[in-house]
Amino acid sequence: MVDPKETLEIMGKRRSVRKFMEDERIPLQILKRIVNSAHYAPFSCNLQPLSFLVVQSDSKRKKIFPAISWARRVQGYAPKNGEHPSAYTIPLADKVEVNGLIKKFYGRDSGKEAQKAKRSIDISIGIVIGFMVVQAELEGVSSCVLAGIDERAIKEALHIPEKFAIPSIIALGYARQKPKIVSIGPTEPTRYRISSGELIVPKRKQKVRWM
Ligand SMILES: Cc1cc2nc3c(=O)[nH]c(=O)nc-3n(C[C@H](O)[C@H](O)[C@H](O)COP(=O)(O)O)c2cc1C
Repeated sequence: MVDPKETLEIMGKRRSVRKFMEDERIPLQILKRIVNSAHYAPFSCNLQPLSFLVVQSDSKRKKIFPAISWARRVQGYAPKNGEHPSAYTIPLADKVEVNGLIKKFYGRDSGKEAQKAKRSIDISIGIVIGFMVVQAELEGVSSCVLAGIDERAIKEALHIPEKFAIPSIIALGYARQKPKIVSIGPTEPTRYRISSGELIVPKRKQKVRWM
């Protein structure tokens, strides 16, 4: 039986990691479970237009690395040699299928209803990514969701056909760093920063209204 308090504690300790033990490879079984978790995510209208790439090879990881914007808000914080993620999972959204499905549902793939459907698909993709990140964390694997990517360059590097969109990629690996969270008030700046060599991630106190 899974201990829900322990699970929440593990989720609470999850931080986006950008410095990994590159040489410590993630066992295949673990990588498979991380990708497999995406299969169980809810999806708007149960559309499921995604397929996945798992990138492990040295040559391919090297090729896509420069196409990623690492920790944009902290200069010079990109992983150095030996600190790169040891794997990436890349969800691919089939644009032709998505537009076709929207058209089938709403009669056309543009306009207000289609926009709403696209928004629901984006939300669903976010949940899919969330499932993988949580599964990774439960497996002791750290991650970083990366939407700051040069999609064209990644497509070229990995020979991904034009019809696919890459909403973001997920870096995976064993952490070399332990970013810390600090609690902040509603008007304090949320910008993450380096302090004494550590990555500090401000988290706003949750605003929750109970009714
Ligand atoms: C949709 C999304 C896109 C992100 N894109 C990037 C990115 O391009 N580069 C990066 O270094 N971090 C990226 N991040 C990580 C965020 O910067 C990070 O989640 C945030 O600073 C909070 O830190 P935490 O994940 O440790 O709680 C992204 C996160 C999300 C959810």
